[in-house]
Amino acid sequence: MSAPCVDVELTTQTGEVIKFKVSALENVSILELFEDAGVRSPFGCRVGTCGTCVVRILEGADLIDGVRQMEEDTLARIAQSEGSPTRLACRASLKPGARGKLVLEKVIIR
Ligand code: FES
Repeated sequence: MSAPCVDVELTTQTGEVIKFKVSALENVSILELFEDAGVRSPFGCRVGTCGTCVVRILEGADLIDGVRQMEEDTLARIAQSEGSPTRLACRASLKPGARGKLVLEKVIIR
């Protein structure tokens, strides 16, 4: 595994701020990066349909790959369009070779 090159800061659903470093590995979702770092974050389907894993991107959106149709449809359905961009942690991945800082906030789905 290559040296960690992205500093991640996640504000969890309870308001706790967790900081960790990750490597930008191809086809590894942000949810999987959370899990590899020992960070527990809610999820459901893991395929982009339930919306449970949604996070708001407060900084570093340019480090993340593009939104595909299923994710776009789910984000539209759960109406998370206000403010900073949102992504599904189970579908979004860091771009290969990404370096920098990624600041995320867990969005609570009601
Ligand atoms: S876990 Fe269901 S959309 Fe991500």
